[in-house]
Parts: sequence; structure tokens; C-alpha cells
Amino acid sequence: MTLQIAPSILAADFGHLADEIRLIETGGADLVHVDVMDGHFVPNLTMGVPVVSALRRLTALPLDVHLMIEEPDRYLEAFVSAGASMISVHAEVCRHLHRTLSRIRELGARASVAVNPATPLATVADAAHLIDNLLVMCVNPGFTGQTFIPESTARVAAARALLTSRGLSASIEVDGGIGPDNAALVVGAGATILVAGASIFHQADRPQAVRDLRAAALGT
Ligand code: DX5
Ligand code: ZN
Repeated sequence: MTLQIAPSILAADFGHLADEIRLIETGGADLVHVDVMDGHFVPNLTMGVPVVSALRRLTALPLDVHLMIEEPDRYLEAFVSAGASMISVHAEVCRHLHRTLSRIRELGARASVAVNPATPLATVADAAHLIDNLLVMCVNPGFTGQTFIPESTARVAAARALLTSRGLSASIEVDGGIGPDNAALVVGAGATILVAGASIFHQADRPQAVRDLRAAALGT
């Protein structure tokens, strides 16, 4: 599976969002990762549907919308209509995961489920056939710039083994504390989408930061 780089705009300069998008496009980013937080599921508030609509007009890159909110079902249609290409919902808040994932697919987006660092992967195993992407959180969600939890690498390997044992080839996305120092490790374990906030947008040269991350991940 090809490696994809998904810069997380949570770490971008919101006063210059259009410029920030241009810069990551120049660097060869594959997706734009959009962190939606509600102040309940995570202790932070960020952006919502209007920002996704604005991004949709700014770029042709697929929008990878990560919902860190308590009741994702209420907003799926709005986010897909606004231009989300993939939607991640958190396993911790989905009482009816099959229903939620099926609904995302029905709406025409890729269905993704996210698991926090302390959530057993077994929680999502029986819905794995409905998953286009499994998002393995490598920090407790809420903020950019946190430190990668080292046990995450083993969880990525376990997630890949779980999918393979069921004959599935969903992408595995890692999110939180990803940078050139650990990219090869998580990719070696089976990750195929790298989300990166601080390691791209907190660097002076954003295009080069995207290239550096890809090169580090591929060992080139
Ligand atoms: C964390 C968010 C991440 C975050 C990543 O709660 O889901 O997408 O923005 O930022 P870094 O790469 O700086 O950890
Ligand atoms: Zn995220």
C-alpha cells in the first residue's frame, strides 16, 4: 500500500490557512487532516463544518476529517456534504459502530474508526469488515505537539495483524507525535497514513518538512 502523508492543520497558522495549504501541496501532501473537537470527548475546541467547506474550496486534496466529538452520528451528513472524503469516528463514543460506519459509506465517504491509546483493538475487531481505515491514536487526543506514546508501535503491528487475519487490507493511520524520528518505525509496523501536525506546521520550511517526513518513513 502506498504511504500517504496527512498534515494536521490543527498545528497550522489559522490566519494564513490558504497559504498553509499551498505549502503542504507544494511538499506533496496526500491528504489534509482536519481535527474536529467538541470540548467534551476531548478537552479542547477546534473547528467544524464551515472550516471543512472552506478547505474544500481551497484544495483538491482529500479531506481526512477526524471527529473527536461525543455524538458523531448527528454530524456525519453535514461533514460529507461539506466535502469530507474520509471520516474517522472514535470507537469510544460509538454505541452502534456498524450503523455509524455503514452510514459513512452510504453517504459516500471512506469509513474510519479511531482508537485511543488505552482502547483495546478488540473493540473494533467485529466491525473490521466495515472499516476503510483504522486510526491508531499515538497520543491521547486533544492537542497538537504531544509526545508519541512508545507502545503505539506494537499496537500498529497488532492492528495490521488483526486486519490481515480477517483477510482485510484497510489502511492504518497513525496520529499523534509523528515525525521523522519515528516514521519508519510505525510504517515498518504497518501504518500507511501518517498524520503530522507539529513536525510539519511548526517547521519553518513546510514543503521540506513534508518531504523529510516521507523520506524518513520510507528510509530514502
Ligand atoms: C490530536 C490530533 C492530532 C494532532 C496531531 O488530538 O488528533 O491530529 O493535531 O498533532 P501532532 O502531530 O503535533 O501530534
Ligand atoms: Zn487527528
